[in-house]
Amino acid sequence: MQEAGGIKVLLVIGGGIAAYKSCELVRLIRKNDGEVTCVLTDGGAQFVTPMTLAALSENPVHTTLWDLKNEVEMGHIQLSREADLVVVCPATANMLAKMAMGIADDLATTLLLATDKPVMAVPAMNVRMWHHAATQANVATLVEAGVMVLDPDEGPMACGEYGAGRLPEPQAIWGAIEAWANGGTQAGTHPADADGSEPLAKEAQGGLDGLIASLIPRGTRKPAALEEDAPLLAGKGSAAAAPPDASPANPYAFDGRPLEGRHVLVTAGPTHEPIDPVRYIANRSSGKQGFAIAAAAAAAGARVTLVAGPVSLPTPPGVTRIDVQTARDMADAVRQSLPADVAVMTAAVADWRAADTRGQKMKKRSSAPPALRLEENPDILATLGTSEQRPSLLIGFAAETEDVVENALAKRERKRADWIVANDVSGPVGASVMGGADNRIHLVTDNGVEDWPEMAKEEVAMKLVGRIAEALEPRDDG
Ligand SMILES: Cc1cc2nc3c(=O)[nH]c(=O)nc-3n(C[C@H](O)[C@H](O)[C@H](O)COP(=O)(O)O)c2cc1C
Repeated sequence: MQEAGGIKVLLVIGGGIAAYKSCELVRLIRKNDGEVTCVLTDGGAQFVTPMTLAALSENPVHTTLWDLKNEVEMGHIQLSREADLVVVCPATANMLAKMAMGIADDLATTLLLATDKPVMAVPAMNVRMWHHAATQANVATLVEAGVMVLDPDEGPMACGEYGAGRLPEPQAIWGAIEAWANGGTQAGTHPADADGSEPLAKEAQGGLDGLIASLIPRGTRKPAALEEDAPLLAGKGSAAAAPPDASPANPYAFDGRPLEGRHVLVTAGPTHEPIDPVRYIANRSSGKQGFAIAAAAAAAGARVTLVAGPVSLPTPPGVTRIDVQTARDMADAVRQSLPADVAVMTAAVADWRAADTRGQKMKKRSSAPPALRLEENPDILATLGTSEQRPSLLIGFAAETEDVVENALAKRERKRADWIVANDVSGPVGASVMGGADNRIHLVTDNGVEDWPEMAKEEVAMKLVGRIAEALEPRDDG
């Protein structure tokens, strides 16, 4: 491993629509004094040309295994050994499958099998391709083999669908390369090391030769992706070499079922407010904290209704989920889900919606851009606070970027909530609480303000649900 400046990257570009972003990655590597040599698959060459990559990288671009001049000297082996790091970007579903199976039927996959250098894969594909069990199993196999697999971004896709599978921005990919070069990510740390089982031989770690070693049976442990509730990958945009066994298989373990017989209503995620059939107003909420609270409440024995905005998270076991898009849909779903003993309003509901939604896609004209007139959305928390069916414990979330506690204290009064969970969502895109794995909250109750240390969102959920169970009046029936 070495400093990021001066790093030698072998960049394998697969046949995905996001291949054009790899051009920007080449530029960033060069700008940061790195060297880059590109290998294009046949699919990749459908999206970007060797000429573009050669010009940007200032190096020859390799496209075929059957190159007489290069292969006299076993060019594919040399290529795979000259770099400090091999980066596959975009890593198509096809490429991940071939890498996981050890298939070597073109230059890219042959050198990936032959390399003795660390490998980083940056997947990009349609959301269903990404969530497909085959892809997830392939990723788990690769992660287990020590390949660093970056978590794809979530958002609208070129195919018109929405969800996880977008290539992270080139700057974030360069950030991961830099973090690796600076020692932030241990490419060769095999997950097996963490559970006390026999570590692989040193020379078998890091590259795809690590994969071959990992395919030799070493016990019955399942790959990370197949282990219930085990996080498959590290946080957004960061490398995933985290040992799957570092967190318990089920992070939500309560003593008994303290919320047995209770109905807990949770909202989570953003809302999408349409402007026209293809555009909408949204925010960066991922829904992770709300889903974790729903999961923890269900594990504590509650009947849980989860009203979820547009997110692509799996429904936690034992939870009834209602999917909605807009703030008004969410308000309706919440009303219809009452009565509830507890309501935890985690969703980042849009304050405003477009005043006039167009039936057809708005056209770009040479005249001035159209004005976007907004009107206020229903305030779900405040409505619940004054509702005849007000839950006996009403908890709101406050996402603030300044004066976090002061704003939360005021919000508690204004919305007539019992508790406000306040969190600071300032910070750069991708490194904020919104979308991140961790949260640092302030719990505002009628007893004052508690500052909780930063912890994983699952831990925040466990602790909050524990507090909810303590706060509820004991039931007459037991
Ligand atoms: C227009 C178009 C876009 C595609 N985008 C993706 C993509 O983003 N991710 C992916 O995994 N496959 C995508 N594919 C499918 C791959 O190109 C296909 O699986 C191909 O065999 C990949 O080859 P490679 O992995 O050798 O590059 C796309 C195909 C087409 C025609």
